[in-house]
Amino acid sequence: MKKKDLSSTFQDNMSLPIHRWYRYTAGFSAEWVEQVVNEYSKKNENKNIVVLDPFAGSGTTLLACDKIGVTSYGYESHPLVNRIASAKLMWDVSVDSVSDLAKEVIIYAKENETTADTFPEIVTKCYDESNLLQITSLKKALKHYENNSKEYSIVWVGFVSMLRAASHAGTATWQYVLPNKTKAKVSGAYEAFEKQIDIMVDDINQFQSYNVQKRSTLLMQDAREKSTLEDNSIDLVVTSPPYANNYDYADATRLELSVLGEIRSWGDLQKVIRPGLVRSCSQMVSKEKPKTYEFLKDPLLTPIYDEIYEVCKSLEAEKENHGGKKNYYTMIALYFLDLAKIWQDLRRVCKEDSLVCFVIGDSAPYGVYVPVDEWLGKLAVNAGFKEYWFEKTRDRNVKWKNRKHTVPLKEGRLWVRG
Ligand SMILES: C[S@@+](CC[C@H](N)C(=O)[O-])C[C@H]1O[C@@H](n2cnc3c(N)ncnc32)[C@H](O)[C@@H]1O
Repeated sequence: MKKKDLSSTFQDNMSLPIHRWYRYTAGFSAEWVEQVVNEYSKKNENKNIVVLDPFAGSGTTLLACDKIGVTSYGYESHPLVNRIASAKLMWDVSVDSVSDLAKEVIIYAKENETTADTFPEIVTKCYDESNLLQITSLKKALKHYENNSKEYSIVWVGFVSMLRAASHAGTATWQYVLPNKTKAKVSGAYEAFEKQIDIMVDDINQFQSYNVQKRSTLLMQDAREKSTLEDNSIDLVVTSPPYANNYDYADATRLELSVLGEIRSWGDLQKVIRPGLVRSCSQMVSKEKPKTYEFLKDPLLTPIYDEIYEVCKSLEAEKENHGGKKNYYTMIALYFLDLAKIWQDLRRVCKEDSLVCFVIGDSAPYGVYVPVDEWLGKLAVNAGFKEYWFEKTRDRNVKWKNRKHTVPLKEGRLWVRG
């Protein structure tokens, strides 16, 4: 039987050191990245290539590049995801300092237990009282030891990444919390934290045994804006942008953000997290609805104007058959406008003979097909890249809520040459 292609999924990373510190369901395979980078270097007989991932997510591309000693840059504008990925890239830390700090944190937490904080409902639905108390104490202990060191950043990730393990709530495939579904076996937060730190210490030791130097830099950068990277500095881009499929990157981290006190309510996601993100879900665009067709007239969208106009019109009409709720037509307009902006700055930073790989899936909101790969290719050429082609890796059945359509969808690699 043919082996399933898992290169566009995070699945295999869960057995790889450091990658596995945070299960990022939106991620892709580190081993596949390594292969792409190695093949590119070999083909171009250039060992000193520079790689960019403008949607770095949990840091898969950058960590894969560190492992093989290749220089890399990344942008990630989701504050929590950026903080997690940045800490994963601090693997050149002194490993003893991580163990020592984690021990101090746990001792402090146990010795200073008082009462549980008042948390938003999503948190209280996920933990019983004794776990809420342990989580509060760990949070206070982290506050007590807070500083800018690498070991602190890593121990902080230990806390964040044990939160799902210590919750009795089930989670959906796409990382959403399902508080009504309960798990049979749950660890206490202290125990889950200590277990996570043990894994992390082992992983750091293993990564350091590769005997390479850290060459990655992750920036807190919105990929739609001009970055601090120099013109003509990038040889290879390996990335996966958000798909135009209504997945909400802000909501997916609501449990963690709520425990950390970064947000108090669902509405805070809009203010704190969403402004820096590509508009790939309908929740992000409702205010922009009246300007939808104006956005389409932006010169950056000229190469796809006729097609996207038709699709937006169909989506606007289809909306009425679905209770008039989701503004997919505005989402699609803004998604492609955002991506068009990203191609502009990619053109600036990429060398003339560069190669770009976007792992991407097409989509069909309300059953209206959107040829994402083709349109992104056209926008890349409009930005000044020479050519594009698509390599399909698998068929996909995206679970659109409220959907009753059967449009076949695919996932694969959009290759663009500079
Ligand atoms: C498909 S995920 C990438 C996952 C990554 N390949 C990995 O393995 O972890 C897309 C990422 O783009 C980020 N993102 C969305 N809009 C962005 C923007 N405007 N600038 C930078 N990053 C953005 C999201 O927060 C998300 O982490």
